[in-house]
Amino acid sequence: MIESSKVQKILYGGDYNPEQWAEDTWEEDMRLLKLAHIDIVTLNVFSWAALQPSEDTYCFDKLDKIMDMVTRHGMKICLATSTAAHPAWMARKHPDILRTEFNGMKRKFGSRHNSCPNSPTYRKYSVALAAKLAERYKSYDNIVSWHIANEYGGECYCENCEKAFRVWLQDKYKTIDAVNKAWDTAFWGHTFYDFDDIVLPNMLSEHFEVNRTTFQGISLDYRRFNSESILDCFRLEYDAVHAITPDIPITTNLMGNYQPLDYQMWAKYMDFISWDNYPAYNATLEDTAFKHNLMRGIKQGKPFALMEQTPSVTNWHPYNALKRPGVMRLWSYQAVAHGADTVMFFQLKRSIGACEKYHGAVIDHAGHENTRVFREITQLGAEFDKIGSLTLGARTQSKAAIVFDWDNWWATYYSAGPSVNLQYCDEILNYYKAFNNLNISVDFIGVEDDLSHYSFVVAPVLYMVKPGYDEKIRQFVKNGGNFLTTFFSGYVDDHDLVTVGGYPGKLRDILGIWVEEEDALPDAACNSFTYKGITYPATLLCDLLHTEGAQSLCEYEQDFYAGMPALTRNEFGKGAAYYAATRSNADFYRTLVHEICTETGICPIIDTPDCIEVTERTNANGTFLFFLNHDEKSHDIKLNHAGTNILNDVAYRDGDTLTLPAKDVAIILTDKTN
Ligand code: GLA
Ligand code: ZN
Repeated sequence: MIESSKVQKILYGGDYNPEQWAEDTWEEDMRLLKLAHIDIVTLNVFSWAALQPSEDTYCFDKLDKIMDMVTRHGMKICLATSTAAHPAWMARKHPDILRTEFNGMKRKFGSRHNSCPNSPTYRKYSVALAAKLAERYKSYDNIVSWHIANEYGGECYCENCEKAFRVWLQDKYKTIDAVNKAWDTAFWGHTFYDFDDIVLPNMLSEHFEVNRTTFQGISLDYRRFNSESILDCFRLEYDAVHAITPDIPITTNLMGNYQPLDYQMWAKYMDFISWDNYPAYNATLEDTAFKHNLMRGIKQGKPFALMEQTPSVTNWHPYNALKRPGVMRLWSYQAVAHGADTVMFFQLKRSIGACEKYHGAVIDHAGHENTRVFREITQLGAEFDKIGSLTLGARTQSKAAIVFDWDNWWATYYSAGPSVNLQYCDEILNYYKAFNNLNISVDFIGVEDDLSHYSFVVAPVLYMVKPGYDEKIRQFVKNGGNFLTTFFSGYVDDHDLVTVGGYPGKLRDILGIWVEEEDALPDAACNSFTYKGITYPATLLCDLLHTEGAQSLCEYEQDFYAGMPALTRNEFGKGAAYYAATRSNADFYRTLVHEICTETGICPIIDTPDCIEVTERTNANGTFLFFLNHDEKSHDIKLNHAGTNILNDVAYRDGDTLTLPAKDVAIILTDKTN
């Protein structure tokens, strides 16, 4: 789909489930889809029951028909493998495919995303189906992507999984002694004598709440194991279809910052990233931008596909608010602005039954084109036709990066203390928002990514420092990089075992500090510090630290630790390492990020109010500046580059004013070089 010679424009389409409809309605659907400038349909997402009605019968008649019809109408196909919901006969005959929940409850047939990832039955039949589909449809040259299963996720605590966990542990640790050491099982006399003693960590064993465990080590390893078990299912299907259709790129639709799956590991096995964007009714523009950015980051900045978004409304939020006029278009371009080369919907046609019948679609229950939503979809489709291939493959060049690490997220999630209000993603967002509002390009990187092409790296709550990561940071700073980390960093290794000798452990020399204690502030409690004449709140956690070479930039003003540093800077080699010892507010983060960027020579793309998001993408055609007005009113922006708005061909000189009405978008193609 992406980076394929078959793709000449931003593909525009979505999930189409014709098996839910009488065949004599399909031609009319095709007419409507063409009218809306739809050029790709995702087929076959939930058809396993129809494709394989029994253990040894397969039936592709309906799929053949719709594949042919879509092809005849000149549209491309994203072909799903249908393995995200197993057929009823399979559950009846092979109950090992049924998952067991966190509370130990064995599930019956029902729902979806419901197969045990370690079930031999599931693996056997899902792979067989994927291979059969590839074999049958390999000659269709309009298949531009495989879509394996759908939104992989969840977890399982069944006996298959328990056995597989023991094997996984044996492979990782070799001896039971090594397991005992890694999990510190001498605590409360939990020593294991044999791998068979180990049971899955859930409400029947180590957990007393979903994120409260008596042993972080086992819970953390279970998270890794579960993510890898599900990834194995994806990889098995990947191999099956890849062997038959080696030229068709393969993806599965991810879900942004979805905690249970380590997408940085998953990305290594996906040809391109695709993800489903369903902002909560009260999501901010930065919440969504963060997710797009993260999805771009897990594949080292390669363009991604927006696989799903609703054209208008979801059915599963507590308040299913309509996307206001212009918002679907704005949010579609927001995806493109952050790196998407494909924009798709769930769904192309509303079903009449079951739980998604009130979920928005291109073709509504009214069944015709005379709706607000259809008109907006058609307008956007026409624009994508006009843009053609211009923006395809464009990349964002960032000099700044934010470190995001799933293991670290899990470890902070399971941490017993210091505060229930400490949420990894919130702290990431605090810093990301500052970059976003300043219009400074920033990448999300994992701990395996190279730091050398960045000049400023922020690692909020780097609680877990994996072996070797401190050295990576040390070299980065020594060579002139600027590094910033925060409270609750450097505490543990990759097993959640504390690095003794003083916090922040292995980061101590780089930061030039010693954190002696940390104070968790209840909800409304607040300390303060004054930085460059402005007083800011200190909330959540306040580290009580001593400088060991670092310079204190400001100090707490209340309580018994008044006078101790709240922000420090340590010159280290040719660079500097900052430590923000407490949480503050958006104004503070903006000031700090802006200051360090300025010192590092990183400039904002342009200054705009926070409600005007500006991003940059560059390819051989030039640099595209995306201006997105998320506000309810029009804004004038004084441009700092000459260029042409590729949406309406209006040309601007450097210094001209761009008037951007409420919810409107401009994409200015400039000859700016980075
Ligand atoms: C997810 C699924 C789709 C559909 C939508 C509804 O993203 O992948 O099948 O259920 O949610 O919003
Ligand atoms: Zn299982």
